[in-house]
Amino acid sequence: MEIVKAQSAGFCFGVKRALDTVYKELEKKPEHIYTYGPIIHNEIVVKELEDHNVVVIEEGEDLSKYEPGVIIIRSHGVPEQTILDLEERGFIVINATCPFVQKIQRSVKKYDLEDYRIIITGDINHPEVQGIIGWIGSKEYKVIKDVSEAEAISFEKGEKVCLVSQTTFNYKKFEDIVEIIRKKGYDLLCLNTICNATWERQKEAREIADKVDVMIVIGGKNSSNSQKLFEICKEKNEDTYFIQTVDDLDFSVLESIDSVGITAGASTPNKIIEEVQGTCQKKALNRCLKHQ
Ligand code: F3S
Repeated sequence: MEIVKAQSAGFCFGVKRALDTVYKELEKKPEHIYTYGPIIHNEIVVKELEDHNVVVIEEGEDLSKYEPGVIIIRSHGVPEQTILDLEERGFIVINATCPFVQKIQRSVKKYDLEDYRIIITGDINHPEVQGIIGWIGSKEYKVIKDVSEAEAISFEKGEKVCLVSQTTFNYKKFEDIVEIIRKKGYDLLCLNTICNATWERQKEAREIADKVDVMIVIGGKNSSNSQKLFEICKEKNEDTYFIQTVDDLDFSVLESIDSVGITAGASTPNKIIEEVQGTCQKKALNRCLKHQ
């Protein structure tokens, strides 16, 4: 049985950096250490951190409940005011916002100050978008998720408009939206801020799912990017399975097949991916021995 593991499976650069930041801070043995929201969408990792006394402060929670200490901002980022509030309360803020997201935050802040109207393509309920909105001082912005919302935008002709995107937004959709906005006669500054990591992971998953007998997607059950990955693979391969850890794997699906593909969402630790891969390898070896 051939095992094809996606090169792009697992942590992206920004998530890895945020998690490494927490472990680096832990080494300094601070009296109190927190993350602002779960550092990644993976219960196993969050639980492991809890065992090291890393406490998750949920967004909007009453900060006075907590003794000030080190607090790490996750890769999605937060509004500027959140950082100021935390500092004012005496927390030492370690900003592990992904640099690609920080670039968007800096851009919207800058262009808003230069009187541009800001348009963000993305999901308004996503923490990354909420964070970006929090860097627009004037609150003059629009968040749009599709072409019909782009059509509905009605700023004055000639107005200065800065268009940015949530990092995980679909590139094709972004292009279609840009096309519509371009025709509206604004003084348009278009910044393509989509991050390649998600796109590459999805492309590779699609290709692998298309050529293997069984496809396994590993991810946290609350991770939307893992869920998306599962949907993409399922479209190409009916025999696609979503698991959180190797314990969820139904070994009977690996019986009498010639190939299995493995990919994983951006919040899946390497350790879990390796366990699944190792189990598939053992299974393949056993079958090989049986046939000798
Ligand atoms: Fe950053 Fe891209 Fe990951 S924006 S958090 S490297 S998906």
